[in-house]
Amino acid sequence: MKDYKWWQSGVIYQIYPRSFFDSNNDGIGDINGIIQKLDYLQWLGIEAIWLSPINKSPMYDFGYDISDYYDIDPSYGTMEDFDRLIEEAHKRNIKIIMDLVVNHTSHLHKWFIKSRSSPDNDKRNWYIWRKGKNGAPPNNWKSAFGGSAWELDIETGEYYLHSFLKEQPDLNWRNSDMRNAIYKMMRFWLDKGVAGFRLDVVNWFVKDEKFRDNPWTIRPLNPERHKYDRNRPEVHQYLKELRKVIDEYDNRMTVGEVFTLPPGDPELSASFLGNGHDELHMAFDFSIMYRLWSARQFYTCIKKWYKALPPEGWPCNVLSNHDQPRSRTRFLGGSDSEKRARVAAVFLLTIKGTPFIYYGEELGMTNTRLRRSEIVDPLGKRYWPVYSGRDCSRTPMLWNSKENAGFSETRPWLPVDSNYKKINVKSQMKDRYSILNLYRNLIHLRKKHKALAVGEISAAIKGFNGSLAYFRFYEDEKFFIALNFSKKEKKIHINERGQWRVMLSTHRSNREHLTNLSLTLAPYEATVIMKIGEL
Ligand code: NOJ
Ligand code: CA
Repeated sequence: MKDYKWWQSGVIYQIYPRSFFDSNNDGIGDINGIIQKLDYLQWLGIEAIWLSPINKSPMYDFGYDISDYYDIDPSYGTMEDFDRLIEEAHKRNIKIIMDLVVNHTSHLHKWFIKSRSSPDNDKRNWYIWRKGKNGAPPNNWKSAFGGSAWELDIETGEYYLHSFLKEQPDLNWRNSDMRNAIYKMMRFWLDKGVAGFRLDVVNWFVKDEKFRDNPWTIRPLNPERHKYDRNRPEVHQYLKELRKVIDEYDNRMTVGEVFTLPPGDPELSASFLGNGHDELHMAFDFSIMYRLWSARQFYTCIKKWYKALPPEGWPCNVLSNHDQPRSRTRFLGGSDSEKRARVAAVFLLTIKGTPFIYYGEELGMTNTRLRRSEIVDPLGKRYWPVYSGRDCSRTPMLWNSKENAGFSETRPWLPVDSNYKKINVKSQMKDRYSILNLYRNLIHLRKKHKALAVGEISAAIKGFNGSLAYFRFYEDEKFFIALNFSKKEKKIHINERGQWRVMLSTHRSNREHLTNLSLTLAPYEATVIMKIGEL
């Protein structure tokens, strides 16, 4: 029998710390706030928390610009608070995964301050410095956040590369001293007991050695084809090195953010798993996040995703994160949007692969509409009104129906969504039919049944006509999951005999017995059925 790891069977919950819970009423979520909500997360049943960055940062990109990897940002707390978080989380059998932001640092990191001080500094090559070409930047690469990816440093007359803001200079992964400093820092956190890392933009770490110009296409919004500044093959040798550091410790994991534009690129994401054991443990494929609400599209995405993985590789699945609109909002559906969110929940938690839940997704939280004056994300500020940035999906967690949804007693750093009287933890905990309780029941059902957590999957209805159905199985256990993505009744018929029992459903009562898999699915029905015997 195969030995499964916690990161394969468990559910991982992403917390954006600034927006989870504010324990000292300064309007900013913090580490002590997370500690106070661990009981909630334990009740929900998650295995691990992935924390968006909490390291010291001047917050040009809200923590994705780290100025000290060995310290905690004072707005989130202290190192003692972090140690307590690990301890309190472990008491509740919850693991902590950190965000490893090492494509770049903050421009205020001491490494960069030294690097920029002189071309002879021993840290000069820890970052990417080039001379300009005829008074212009070294090449045509553009920053993901707008403008040239090169910034001229007046003092030394050279340009440094920044794939994001100019306050986020890119590290030079070809430099072994720099890499060793990163590995040392990783050991510091692993020694503290963190269970692993999510690697920020892992596919951007290495750039073309010759700094060749990128080709341009006629795509109106993103004309640049990132041939030379992203997805360079040399990254894999460094990830093999990084994996060895992780493997010095027992039972840790890594998950890579393989950042691609729509439509997503499952083959590319899968390539970051190496042979399944020698690079990252998991990687995100954003294909589903970039699709509309469609059973057929969901089916083809996961099919391609599973097919792309190496034989020993393990998938993970995600509907939202802090960079994308919230899934419920993306799936549209008007007054049916909550029903769609429920179908999506059953999908996420019953297909093969580790599910990642973005905070608030379990409540059916929606994007928050913001005015220009409320936007703080540098992307939103730059591109408003064409693109309002990422703040809309980063607004405070909705805890109860009190002022500020119980997130804070002062005005939060981003506005609380106006629907918090209807959508919040407290009221949904009490309602056994709430979407929150649906998430909880699904998570607990996965814990009880290996077929759902780690079993194989085989398709039964492939998304044509708005419905999707599949089997999950493990040893003697067999499950059948049927999802109706449409607002019309759907009849499905699967030629499979046996005695079956409904284990969880948006529409049927639990324990309903079936002697075949001919079902009429109600609009937006999602039902999980277990085989209990032969006929
Ligand atoms: C990807 C992160 O998810 C995003 O939030 C951030 O702005 C960029 N990487 C830069 O670190
Ligand atoms: Ca606070």
